[in-house]
Amino acid sequence: MKMKVPVVDLARQYAALRQELETAVLAAMASGRYILGPEVEAFESEFAAYVGARHAVAVGSGTEALRLSLLAAGIGRGDEVITVSFTAVPTVAAIMAAGARPVLVDIDPRTCTMDVEQARAAVGPRTAAIVPVHLYGHPADLGPLLELAGQRGLLLVEDACQAHGSTYRGRRVGALGHVGCFSFYPTKNLGGMGDGGMVVTDDDSLACKLRMLRNHGQRRRFYHVYNSLNSRFDDLQAAALRVKLRYLDAWNERRRHLAAFYRQSLAGLPLTLPEEMPWAGHNYHLFVVRVEERDSFRRRLARTGVDSDVHYPVPVHLQPAYRRLGYRRGALPQSERAAERVVTLPLFPELTEAEAEAVVESVQRALAVCPGSRSG
Ligand SMILES: Cc1ncc(COP(=O)(O)O)c(C=O)c1O
Repeated sequence: MKMKVPVVDLARQYAALRQELETAVLAAMASGRYILGPEVEAFESEFAAYVGARHAVAVGSGTEALRLSLLAAGIGRGDEVITVSFTAVPTVAAIMAAGARPVLVDIDPRTCTMDVEQARAAVGPRTAAIVPVHLYGHPADLGPLLELAGQRGLLLVEDACQAHGSTYRGRRVGALGHVGCFSFYPTKNLGGMGDGGMVVTDDDSLACKLRMLRNHGQRRRFYHVYNSLNSRFDDLQAAALRVKLRYLDAWNERRRHLAAFYRQSLAGLPLTLPEEMPWAGHNYHLFVVRVEERDSFRRRLARTGVDSDVHYPVPVHLQPAYRRLGYRRGALPQSERAAERVVTLPLFPELTEAEAEAVVESVQRALAVCPGSRSG
C-alpha cells in the first residue's frame, strides 16, 4: 500500500509535547504579561546560554534579526554587504531594508554556502559586513570568513536562521560571528507557533542598541533615542519555545540519524547527496539532494505518496524583485546550477523508520525509471 510521507508535519511535534506546551502557554496566558515579559527574558537567557553568547535579544522574526543587527551596527545607506544569492530571499531583503546594497557572491557547490574566495574578491572600499548563511543547517566556512572580516574591519553577521544547534569546529554557530541571527518560523528545528527571531552577540553595546531598536528606539518608556519600529516578541511564543529548546539537541540527533540512514541507503544512486565537511556539525534542517531532471523525479516521488520540496528554485539575483541589483543569468553559475537541481526530501524528528524506508524505496524507484538521470 502506498504510504503518504510529508516533507514536514508539525502537528506530530505538538501531539508529542501537548501537555507540556499547554501547561507552559496557559501559565503565560494567566500571567497577564504578554510582550517582552518574564517568559521572553527567560527564553533570551536560556537561548544565549544554549548558543554560548553573552546576549540574546528576541525580535519579531529572523528577517528582523538580520535587519536590526545591521542597523544596530550603524550599517545602512552607502554601505555594501556581501552575502549569497542562493538563500531564502529574506537574507537579501533584510540588507536592503537596512538601506545597504547587497553584493551577491556564489556558493561552494559542496555545501551550498558562501564561497570564501568569492567573498574575498568582492570586498571593496564600501564593504561594511559579510552575511554568510548556514544553508539547510550546514555551517558556512566561518574560519576564513572571520579572518577576512578581521583583516578588512568588517562586521560578520551569521544568518543562522536554519542552523539552531549546528556546530562549526565543535562550537555552536550564531555565537562565532559578531552577531548571529535566528528564526523561529514554525518549520525551523526550533520553531514557534507563529513568527519570531533572535539576535545573539557578545557585544554589550550592540545588544543594548538592539533592545532599543526592537521597541521604537526607547531608552526607557516614552524616551526615544532612535526612530525605529516595533519588532517585539511575545510571551506565549517564548513559553512554547522554552519547552521546545529542551528537546532541540535530541531532535537534531534524530535528524542526524535519519540523514545517516538516507545517506547510506541512497549511496551509489545517480543523485548527489548533501556533503558534510569535516569541520561541520549539520543539524539537517533540510535534507537536500541534487538530481538532473528534477521535475520528473519529483513527479515520480509524488506518485508513490512521497512529498518533496525545492529550497530554492530561483536564486535571489534572478528574482524579478531583485533585478535592479543588476545581475544577469550566468553571473553566479553554481547558485544557478543548484537552483535547477536541488530537491528536499522528507526529514523531521518525528518521521518514522517505516516512512524513511518508504522514501528510500521511492527514490530508488524514481531513479531506476529515469536511467538518463545523473547526479547534478
Ligand atoms: C536563511 C534564512 N534567512 C532568513 C530567514 C527569515 O526568517 P523569518 O521567516 O523568521 O523572517 C529564513 C527563514 O525563513 C531563512 O531560512
